[in-house]
Amino acid sequence: MAIEVSVQGLGSVGRAADALVVPVFRGDSSHLHWRLEKPVYQAVERLRRASGIDGEFGSVAALETDGGLLPPTVVFVGIASKGELTGPDLFEAYASGVRRIVAGESPSVALLVPDGVVPGAAEAAVTGLFAGTYRFQRKQKPKKLHLRRGVILTASALDSSGLGKLVAIGEAQNYAFELVNRDGGELTPPHLADEARVVARQAGARITVWDRKTIEAEGMGLLAAVGRASEHDPQFIRLDYEPRGTSTGHLVFVGKGITFDTGGIDLKRYPGLPTMKGDMGGAAAVLSLFKALPVLRPAVRITGLIASAENAFGGASYRPGDVYRSYSGKHVEIGDTDAEGRLVLADALHYAKELNPDAIIDLATLTGSCVVALGELFAGLFSNSDRLAGEIEAASRLAFERFWRLPLPPVYRQQIVSPIADLKNISSSRYGDAIIAALFLKEFVGDTPWAHLDIAGPSWVDTDTPGYLAMGTGYAVRTLCRLVDPSSGWNREQLKG
Ligand code: BES
Ligand code: MN
Ligand code: ZN
Repeated sequence: MAIEVSVQGLGSVGRAADALVVPVFRGDSSHLHWRLEKPVYQAVERLRRASGIDGEFGSVAALETDGGLLPPTVVFVGIASKGELTGPDLFEAYASGVRRIVAGESPSVALLVPDGVVPGAAEAAVTGLFAGTYRFQRKQKPKKLHLRRGVILTASALDSSGLGKLVAIGEAQNYAFELVNRDGGELTPPHLADEARVVARQAGARITVWDRKTIEAEGMGLLAAVGRASEHDPQFIRLDYEPRGTSTGHLVFVGKGITFDTGGIDLKRYPGLPTMKGDMGGAAAVLSLFKALPVLRPAVRITGLIASAENAFGGASYRPGDVYRSYSGKHVEIGDTDAEGRLVLADALHYAKELNPDAIIDLATLTGSCVVALGELFAGLFSNSDRLAGEIEAASRLAFERFWRLPLPPVYRQQIVSPIADLKNISSSRYGDAIIAALFLKEFVGDTPWAHLDIAGPSWVDTDTPGYLAMGTGYAVRTLCRLVDPSSGWNREQLKG
């Protein structure tokens, strides 16, 4: 559903839309006036006081007004106090405020932006608007979406090209939500390849797809092994985007595309299984990035690689104890068939390395361990390059997503040495598996600058949080878009310190 987005100054709050979202700092509402005209500020503040809302983090309240100075509905959203506020908190506040309005019947919503309090707040409002409008419903009578128009109320300058990009990023992010939430039996690897074909056509990108036979013939033994028991062929998908002018470099993005992860012979148990339709969150992020490319128009060459398979359970399943030859030639002993993500990625990473790019970035819902370590709202970031890690961290700040860097200590490498093969896909210790998995991947990238984003936590959120519904969240799309966007520069400077 297309939402039309525009930017307005703070002069016409009452007529801007049918509903208004107002972020409120905890314990300090003095900033509510944010350059609003005095009578408007007073009306907002009166309403807020009457409602008793003092900005408790995560609180949301919708109030009716008598119109006039303010739109008919005003939604207050509590955010952290000023000193503690981060970009992601603000993004999530807008998403939950808009979600409250989407539940009603307002055709339009205005988002009030606290200029000067959080840098890039208007950007958080645009992408939060899109996140807030997303719904995944498979009901006999789905609730109608009334919202058609969003208005960003800001005193800061957001030009139309900047706004166009943010809209493209917002739409790309919602596309990832949708892919992640789609049923495992519906979004199979061949179906994912079909999605990639559509995206490639829209993006003017070249696409090549390897099916089961080609994957085997080319020697991607690990991807073939993981996909062996499924009725649906594994797929290796490659997309290529070329900039119009001279290219300033070459980036390769690699996505884990397990369309359903049963665990294989090392079968998973409830309650984790139903969410394993989301085990292609990395692939979704890569495809979504391509969806935004025609608008972002980066000056770098971009290759997207997706290693897709269904990790099915059955008589043809690959087995613990088996050894397979990877695309790189290294042999891998299977210690656990549920550690399948690192296997399919290994083949794709070797392929990526052979392209000799400037950097490789992989995205994967890789380990439960990463979720245990960082919680649901942080992704793990691993890299063999401080510079690349820094770039990703800078991009994530512009994108209002949370990443936390974790180490790649050589001292743990001995844990993935196998007595019979070159490597083993798990450690015998149950500790630190997010790191073990990252060290396994590192074996396949050589000296190429590489970063691994373990998005297992935020790509699928189990409980409703202030910002996300309990479902697929399409994580990292915004960060990838910012990373390749040539115009992020000014903003990056602004955010320093
Ligand atoms: N897809 C899972 C990781 C995962 C767990 C994603 C929870 C999202 C939420 C991955 O394939 C997996 O099963 N990893 C195992 C590895 C273990 C067997 C070494 C895990 O984390 O338990
Ligand atoms: Mn698994
Ligand atoms: Zn998995």
